[in-house]
Amino acid sequence: MAAKIIDGKAIAEEIQKALAAEVADLKAKGVVPGLAVILVGDNPASKTYVRNKEKACQRVGLYSEVHRLPESTSQEEVLDLIATLNRKPEIHGILVQLPLPDHIDQKACIEAIDPSKDVDGFHPVNVGRLQIGEKCFVPCTPNGIIELIERTGTPIKGAEAVVVGRSNIVGKPVGMLLMHRHATVTTCHSRTRDLAFHTKRADILVVAMGKPKVITGDMIKPGATVIDVGINSVDGKLVGDVDFDSAVEVAGAITPVPGGVGPMTITMLLKNAIEAARG
Ligand code: GUN
Repeated sequence: MAAKIIDGKAIAEEIQKALAAEVADLKAKGVVPGLAVILVGDNPASKTYVRNKEKACQRVGLYSEVHRLPESTSQEEVLDLIATLNRKPEIHGILVQLPLPDHIDQKACIEAIDPSKDVDGFHPVNVGRLQIGEKCFVPCTPNGIIELIERTGTPIKGAEAVVVGRSNIVGKPVGMLLMHRHATVTTCHSRTRDLAFHTKRADILVVAMGKPKVITGDMIKPGATVIDVGINSVDGKLVGDVDFDSAVEVAGAITPVPGGVGPMTITMLLKNAIEAARG
C-alpha cells in the first residue's frame, strides 16, 4: 500500500492562519512582532529564501525589514548592523541568511546576535539550552520536522528514530528534539559503514544529507514515517534525499519534495519571531 503523503504546505498554511490570529492579538495590545533579515551577496537560492520569508511575514502580519548588502560588504559592517538591530526595540528577531561570503566569519556573526533575538536558534547559548532541555529558540527546520511527525500521529516515545546527516542546522538539533521526546535516536552520516542496516530499523527516518535520492525503498522499514529534508536540483528538477517513487511504496507516511519540510521551516521562523515579541 502506498504511503500517506504528508502535506507540509497545507499544514504550514493551517499553522500560519493560527499565527496570524496571534499577531492580531499582539497588535491589539500594541506589540507588532518585527523580524530583520540580513542577506549578503547574490546567492540565488538565498535570495529566493529571503524573498519567501519576507512574503510570509507580510501574510501573517509581522513587520519585516530585509537588509540586502553587496558581496563586498566587510565583516565589520555586518557586525555593526547586527549590533544596531540588537538595540532596536521594534526588532524582536534577527536572522543572518547563510551561507555568508567566504571573507565573512559566520561564527562571529551568529555569536554577535543577542540570544533573545536569535530566532534561528543558532547562537551557542540557544544550542546549549536546547541540549539541556531548557526553554530556547529551536532551529526552524528541526522544529518543523517534529511538528510534521506529531501531526502524522506517529508515536515518538520509544520509537527507533534514525537521523541521516549531522549538521548543526538540522541533523544534530532534530536528533536532540527526538531524544527529548523519548525516541531512541541513531545518527548516521557520510562515514557510516552500513547505512541501510540502520535505516531499515527506523520507525522514524529523517534524511538530511544533501545527496539526491540516497535513501531508496529497500532501505526503509515497512510502515515507517519518512521525513525528507533534502533540496537538490537534478536536471533542473527539485528532488529530495529520498528516492520518492520507491520509498512511497514502503513507507507508512512520507514528505514530498517540494511541499514537505520546506514550507514548515518558514512557518517555524514566524512562530519564533512571535515568541520573541512576547518576550
Ligand atoms: N540557510 C539555509 N537554511 C537556513 C536557515 O535555516 N537559516 C539561515 N539563517 N540561513 C539558512
